Amino acid sequence: MAVSPFFLSFLSLFSLLSLPVSAAASDAYPSIPGTAPVDGGFADELKPIRREVYGEGKIFDISHRYTSDMPSWDSSEGLGRFLWLAASMKNGSLANNSEMKIPTHTGTHVDSPGHVYDSYYDAGFDVDSLDLQVLNGPALLVDVPRNKNITADVMKSLHIPKGVRRVLFRTLNTDRRLMFKKEFDTSYVGFMKDGAQWLVDNTDIKLVGIDYLSVAAYDDLIPSHLVFLKGRETILVEGLKLDDVKAGLYYVHCLPLRLVGAEGSPIRCILMT
Ligand SMILES: *[C@@H]1O[C@H](CO)[C@@H](O)[C@H](O)[C@H]1NC(C)=O
Ligand SMILES: *[C@@H]1O[C@H](CO)[C@@H](O)[C@H](O)[C@H]1NC(C)=O
Ligand SMILES: *[C@@H]1O[C@H](CO)[C@@H](O)[C@H](O)[C@H]1NC(C)=O
Repeated sequence: MAVSPFFLSFLSLFSLLSLPVSAAASDAYPSIPGTAPVDGGFADELKPIRREVYGEGKIFDISHRYTSDMPSWDSSEGLGRFLWLAASMKNGSLANNSEMKIPTHTGTHVDSPGHVYDSYYDAGFDVDSLDLQVLNGPALLVDVPRNKNITADVMKSLHIPKGVRRVLFRTLNTDRRLMFKKEFDTSYVGFMKDGAQWLVDNTDIKLVGIDYLSVAAYDDLIPSHLVFLKGRETILVEGLKLDDVKAGLYYVHCLPLRLVGAEGSPIRCILMT
């Protein structure tokens, strides 16, 4: 391969400076206030790199960052202050130690059967009991029609082949950037009860992922959850960040915290090609 001397000097310039070539904040991924790389990326301060994609498309991070401005269920105020330094070096501690407090269904998170079935909750169907084989494996990222909630008709129209066990549904929620808006919005797209029932009855899907805080449309909130979680086989991953990833087949990897007794947990999910 012929490499121009200009390109070589360009490369060595970047390796000398040890700077990321493409760490500039984009509109799609607003950086956390105070951490945005300076325009052009030539800041001489110590700054972390924050990525959405690793290895030029080998790994896509499809989890949202936890910030005080992220939406919180039924709240117009966002998540608010959830993280603080309980011990800090500035105040003489040996190390900085933060503490946090969040509802378990915040941001990108998973629901266990105990979420909507009291008997399952009592029997211990918590997030620690979820099957990691369902949460990890081949997955389809699909776009759903933007003008409807996910009904039985919509499910039928998607023609998801039998045998597909994991599907991430990208909806109008992603286009509307709802997960980046502080104010909770009840008009998000989700499954209507008949859509959930159709999925359970006619497909092999056991992992259902969606791009806002609930897989169920607000109008069918509890009925859709009841349909999905009744069999204790379907796992619901909510609040996924599906921006700027092509629809198609990936490997999904989702790992919840082992919160014994909790019916929900923050979850880190990535897609690999
Ligand atoms: C520790 O916390 C202080 C705030 O008290 C902060 O200014 C400092 O940068 C932190 N140090 C490290 C090593 O993270
Ligand atoms: C340090 O301690 C002071 C006095 O107790 C307190 O007001 C301040 O908030 C503390 N700062 C940090 C960063 O913990
Ligand atoms: C989806 O349902 C919600 C109510 O749960 C409604 O506000 C919204 O307009 C519906 N979205 C579409 C695209 O039909």
